[in-house]
Amino acid sequence: MKEDRRFTPSAEFSKRARVRSHAEYRTMHQLSLDEPETFWREHTTDLVFRTPWKTFLEWSLPKARFFGGATLNLTETCLDRHLATEARTRAAIVFEGEPGDVRTLTYFELHREVVRLTAALADLGVVAGDRVAIYMGMVPEAAVAMLACARLGATHSVVFGGFSSDALRDRINDSGAKVLLTQDGAWRRGNVVPLKKMADDAVAQAPSIEKVVVLRRLGAGHTPVQMKEGKDIWWDDLLSRTASEASAKLARTPPAFDAEHPLFILYTSGSTGKPKGVLHTTAGYLAGVHITSKFVFDLREGDLYWCTADVGWVTGHSYLVYGPLSCGATVMMYEGAPNFPDWGRFWNIIEKHGVTILYTAPTAIRAFIRAGDDWPAKSDLSSLRLLGSVGEPINPEAWTWYHRVIGGGRCPIVDTWWQTETGAIMLTTLPGACYSKPGATGLPSFGVDIAVVKDDGSECSANEGGKLVVKRPWPSMARTLYKDDARYAESYWSQLPGVYFTGDGARRDEDGYFWVTGRIDDVLNVAGHRIGTAEIESALVSHPAVAEAAAVGKPDDLKGQALVVFVTLKAGQTADKLLKEKLTEHIDREIGKFARPDSIRFTDALPKTRSGKIMRRLLKEIASGAAETKGDTSTLEDLGVLAKLRADEE
Ligand code: WTA
Repeated sequence: MKEDRRFTPSAEFSKRARVRSHAEYRTMHQLSLDEPETFWREHTTDLVFRTPWKTFLEWSLPKARFFGGATLNLTETCLDRHLATEARTRAAIVFEGEPGDVRTLTYFELHREVVRLTAALADLGVVAGDRVAIYMGMVPEAAVAMLACARLGATHSVVFGGFSSDALRDRINDSGAKVLLTQDGAWRRGNVVPLKKMADDAVAQAPSIEKVVVLRRLGAGHTPVQMKEGKDIWWDDLLSRTASEASAKLARTPPAFDAEHPLFILYTSGSTGKPKGVLHTTAGYLAGVHITSKFVFDLREGDLYWCTADVGWVTGHSYLVYGPLSCGATVMMYEGAPNFPDWGRFWNIIEKHGVTILYTAPTAIRAFIRAGDDWPAKSDLSSLRLLGSVGEPINPEAWTWYHRVIGGGRCPIVDTWWQTETGAIMLTTLPGACYSKPGATGLPSFGVDIAVVKDDGSECSANEGGKLVVKRPWPSMARTLYKDDARYAESYWSQLPGVYFTGDGARRDEDGYFWVTGRIDDVLNVAGHRIGTAEIESALVSHPAVAEAAAVGKPDDLKGQALVVFVTLKAGQTADKLLKEKLTEHIDREIGKFARPDSIRFTDALPKTRSGKIMRRLLKEIASGAAETKGDTSTLEDLGVLAKLRADEE
């Protein structure tokens, strides 16, 4: 479908915006590429450096160092600097729990909590450079935990609360975390997610963990958790101890770190092998999330900004915690599911708290469309002034609904394309400056030199599909994969000469707008969750009944992509419903419920090339229900396999 409608921001929005016209955006973007030193000098004045930076970039592919010479403690930008202004008493976080409890933390209070936890972690023996794992739900303490690690110089590794204990164990063991911060349980759709119980199972096989700190979230009346003597400690007990003088001092006046000091590791799926520990460092990441928060979300005093992403994903890191707090914004945080107790929950939160900016994912929007317009109609959404989308391509129908029903036709929509590895938003339209086109992610962010290229590296012409690449380093980019420089170089910087390969396909239209079509590697995007086919396959083959497995995506109206797996069984196994259930439970255990296949198909053989590689492309066509095979099958070993697979269709 060709979509060429344009939505121009209202004059009223543009008048107040930081960047007011397309021409102004273009000038700024050009400056950010031509004279990066000048551009970043001007746009890093809000960041608190103890020692100012001297060199913008030292680059020796694939090693980048940004803001050379600078030292800083990132939390001074996100917290301390606000205490000297009227932001001191401004809400930093407005929290609503799924059961309906509401809590507000001002910047003063957030700072106080971070300082207390920093001192407590120091007393537990955590020092700069140590890794700390965080396995929590959406509660303010998750942000406190991340900031306390940053204040101490410890590298945090947040593991999404939807991951299983096995997945948590593997991530802890890869990072060698010393301390794990978790909670008794989290609320999700009226049920308790037993985080502590799952943490116990993980820690039993994670020898690096010395202490487990447990936040009480559930309150009395819930199944008590097991506290292991000498290892487990309640969060409130830890904080109520008087910190040693040295730790208290360190927390109050924290040390400054080098610009390239590691800030966090976040595991994400790649096209092969086990998850990758994407490593971000301090100054460049902060600069990236700061200026994108400021310009893309147009944050200003009086805004209540709500990013619905979980802290366990990069969107939660950059646009729930670090970016908005670095701007002194007020952030809305909601613990639970969008459909609990009913599909009106989000709209109720917007009305109740007066949310002005909403940043969510297309999958959620499509689910809301399906639930019906009556739900948003029940609430007053007139406080909203800006909408954002992230995580997957937004189809024009979903875009238009979001604009009309949620935004009342008056709110600009910023579709933002970026990745765990990019740290910050790379493509979008600046609200107030640029018109948007439903389905297009728009134009490059500042400092971003991005292109669509062919396999030989040459640029595609307008509207020609190709590979999305970034042509030069940018401040918030990942610096490496934890303890795996070689895989970093190979995954991102070796596929096409001299450029960063995103793994996405895209085209750029005649107006210079980018249209991202989705992953072209073996990574799936199911309901906005990034899932590696290799991870699913290795989880399946670790089940005793399975001989071989292949995972592919198939287009899905609601989730964007649905996960289909083809499985061959070992001799003597029965391909039945019971086994399908067992395999589903196995995936729950190995990865997490969010990675459950939508369909499991048993087969006698998988289509393979003569050299033995599974032909995923063909399986994708079969999963999508294509009656005929479009692609080249000349390397296929046995054409009979294809006919059989089709015949077995569910
Ligand atoms: C996809 C999430 C189209 C893309 C921030 C990318 C998008 C992957 C968009 C990264 C968008 C993200 N339009 N596709 N606006 N945003 N993607 O690491 O395929 O969880 O490579 O980061 O999501 O997913 P990740």
